This record gives sequence, structure tokens and C-alpha cells, in this order.
Amino acid sequence: MMKVGVIGAGTMGSGICQVLAQSGHQVYLVEQNAEFLNKGLARIEKGYDRNVKKERMTEEEKNAAMANITGIEGVSNLPGDLDLVIEAVVEELDVKKEVFKELDQVCDSKTILATNTSALSISEIAVVTGRPDKVVGMHFFNPVPVMKLVEVIRGAVTSDETFNFVKELAESLGKTPVEVKEAPGFVVNRILIPMINEAAYILMEGIASAEDIDKAMKLGANHPIGPLALADLIGLDVCLSIMETLYTEFGDPKYRPCPLLRKMVRANQLGRKTGQGFFSY
Ligand code: NAI
Repeated sequence: MMKVGVIGAGTMGSGICQVLAQSGHQVYLVEQNAEFLNKGLARIEKGYDRNVKKERMTEEEKNAAMANITGIEGVSNLPGDLDLVIEAVVEELDVKKEVFKELDQVCDSKTILATNTSALSISEIAVVTGRPDKVVGMHFFNPVPVMKLVEVIRGAVTSDETFNFVKELAESLGKTPVEVKEAPGFVVNRILIPMINEAAYILMEGIASAEDIDKAMKLGANHPIGPLALADLIGLDVCLSIMETLYTEFGDPKYRPCPLLRKMVRANQLGRKTGQGFFSY
């Protein structure tokens, strides 16, 4: 079993921690302060409770999984002898760079550093460390305990050893990894987020209601969830920031973010996490 650090206990970090601890790994979950940490731990426990209720795990297994998790305030308080760290803080390059600089100092030289970024450059994050060959993208999908895919992303100088380590870990967690070379949005978000952005344009232009846009894509394209409900699940702030990255990186107007998406993010209508997005929760 491995010792793994998870940085950030938000939507993704808590899901990643939940899956790792359940598989018997020792997880060190890092947040900025006790309040956010406790929120994350409560979310993880709720996830296990749901599994117990559905008889997917026993109460003993839940307790064992919870006992595998150590909450930590601040990256500098992590133990150094970790096999892997998975970073899942906010999707902002400067914040991630700061975290990786600190991780590079705190962690042993053997520790592999992975980022769960949705669209940022792995190479640009890796370059702030003294071990760019040990930096890799490990992109989980929301909700982590349910979604099977992990995009394993090679930065410019990610070594085969690092790539294979993360690929094999993903498989051992019951996930299906796909190999992706670094490029804006990787595979899934390069296709998915412009589709969500287009749905926001259709809503803004008054062409169809939110309910009907989602109904149309569910029944007409056989999608299990409509694009607007999916945006609420992902978080409108995350969607906007991926769109901004695609727009800036490719410089192609087809990626321009929808003004309605921007307006809703400014109004803190971020989807499920704030109770209001394209739909109310
Ligand atoms: P979130 O906003 O729910 O959680 C981020 C957490 O990181 C917050 O709790 C924040 O307090 C914490 N944080 C910020 N700076 C920190 C630091 N220096 N040290 C420790 N903790 C810190 O965000 P979410 O949705 O979990 O996204 C995290 C990452 O995962 C982003 O890069 C995002 O693009 C990516 N992602 C998000 C998906 C989604 O559907 N929400 C899907 C796949 C990837």
C-alpha cells in the first residue's frame, strides 16, 4: 500500500481521497485551514455512509477507510516520504505553481507529483520543480467514486516510469486510464466544455429553455445527462476557466466563452455547490 498526499479537499480532492483510502492506501489530505479540511472529511464520510447504506461496504470497512486518512493544514506539514502526491486545488496556474514549488521542497526526490488539472499545462507546472520528469497529469472525473475514466497526461518530459506508475495506480483503483499527450483541454474537456458553452449560448439567445436544451441532448443524442445539468455538476467557474484556457491557447474565436456563463460566475451562481446554476438545488 502506498502513502499518498492529496492537496485540496474540495469536490475532486475529497473524491480522490475517498477512493484511495477505500483501496487501503494511506492518504494525507491537505487543506488551507481546519474549516475546509473538516468540510472535506465530512463529505468523504458521507460518501462512505452512502456505500454502507447501499451495502457496497460494511461499517468496519468504512471505519478502516476513514482511519487511513490523516487531515493536514498546509502543504509544509506533509510527511516527506510519500510515494505520490495528487494536487486538486483551484484551477489557477499561479496557485498550482506555488503548491508544486512547496511540494518539491517538502517531498523526497523519489515522490511522483501529479496534478488533477482540467486544462492547464503539465509542463508549465512541472518546470517550477527540480523533477519535471516525475510530474504527470492524473485527471479524474466528477464524481470520482463513480466515473471510470482517468486521463493520464504526459508533459513534455514526463518519464515512462512516472507515466506507468500513475497508469497502474489508476487501474488498481478500478479506473480505466487513457494515454494523452499534453494539449489544451486534453481529450474529454476539449470536446465536452465547448458543447456546454454552446448550450449556454442557445439558452442566452432564447432559442430553447434550459429544461428543453437538456431534454433535447438526452433524447436526441442519447446523453445520460443534459449539458446544462452537467455544467451545474462540474461547477460553472470550472467550465468558464477551461473555456478561457482553450480560447487563449488556441486563439480561435470558436472557443469564446459565452457571456451568460461569465455573468453567472460573477453572480456566484456556480451550480450545485452554491445551490444555483442553470437549475436550482
Ligand atoms: P474546489 O473549489 O471544489 O476545491 C478546491 C479546494 O482546494 C478548495 O477546498 C480550496 O480551499 C483548496 N485549496 C486551494 N489552495 C490550496 C492550497 N494552497 N493548499 C491546500 N488546499 C488548497 O475545486 P474542484 O472542483 O475540486 O477542482 C479542483 C481541481 O480539479 C481543479 O484543477 C479542477 O480544474 C480539477 N477538476 C475539476 C473537476 C470538476 O468536475 N469539478 C473535474 C476534473 C478536474
